[in-house]
Amino acid sequence: MPATEPTWVEKLRTDLSHFHSPDPKSTQFPMALATVADGKPKVRMVGHADLLFMSHARRYAILIGTDSRSPKAEQVRANHNVELVYWFEKEREQFRITGDSFLVDSNSSDAVWLNERGRYLSTLKPGRKMDYARANAPGTPVGTPMGNKSKQLPGPEDFDDSGPKKDTHQQALDHYALLVVIPDTIDWSSERQQGKRKLWKFDEEADEDLADEQRDIQWPEQDLHY
Ligand SMILES: Cc1cc2nc3c(=O)[nH]c(=O)nc-3n(C[C@H](O)[C@H](O)[C@H](O)COP(=O)(O)O)c2cc1C
Repeated sequence: MPATEPTWVEKLRTDLSHFHSPDPKSTQFPMALATVADGKPKVRMVGHADLLFMSHARRYAILIGTDSRSPKAEQVRANHNVELVYWFEKEREQFRITGDSFLVDSNSSDAVWLNERGRYLSTLKPGRKMDYARANAPGTPVGTPMGNKSKQLPGPEDFDDSGPKKDTHQQALDHYALLVVIPDTIDWSSERQQGKRKLWKFDEEADEDLADEQRDIQWPEQDLHY
C-alpha cells in the first residue's frame, strides 16, 4: 500500500471500516454492480471483498467474489466496462466507481491471481462456499439437467468437523471467480454539508515513477455542483 493514498481511497477505506454487518453470515459490504449485456445495463447487488493496491501495475483494484458460470461473469467476459455504487448510510456518502475489469477463474493462467482466488475462497463461511460447489449454474431454470454432476445440493456427507470436505473446496474452486475492478473514475457525493460532490479521474499521463507520497497527482480532484 502506498504511504499516502489518494483521497477517494482514504474516504472509501474509512467508510468501509465503520461498516458492521447486521448478518454474521455475510460480512461483506453490500453494493451495486452494473455490467453491460447486449448494450443494455444490468445491475445487481454484490459484496465488497477487498480494496487493494496492485504495486506491479500501480493501480487500485476492488475485488468481488462471484460464480464464473453466472450471467454477470459472462457479461464481464464480453464487455469489461463496469460500474459500482456504494451507499454509506451513516456517513450519507455515495461512491460511484467506473472502471475496467477482468475475471480470475479456473481458466486463468496468472499464478499470483490464482493464488489470491484460492485465498479468498478459503475465507468464506462453509455455507457460502457451498453456493459455489453447486452443480447448477446460477440463473439456469430449475429442472435443467446438470450435465455430468449427479447432485443438486450438498448434503451432510459433504462436511466434516472443520467445514466442507476438501473435495467440496475443490468443487467450489472450479466455479469461484474473483471479479477484479480497476477504477478509473470516482464520482463521490455527500448528502451532508448541503450536498457536496467531487470527481476523481485517473490520469494515465501522470508520471508512473511518482513517489508514493505523490499518488494523489494521478488522481486529480474536481469539485462538482451537487
Ligand atoms: C446483499 C447481496 C449481496 C450479494 N453479494 C454477491 C456477491 O458478492 N457475488 C455474487 O456473485 N452475487 C452476489 N449476490 C447475488 C447477486 O445479486 C445475484 O447473483 C443476482 O441477483 C443475479 O446475478 P446475475 O446478474 O449474475 O444473474 C448478492 C445479493 C445480495 C442481495
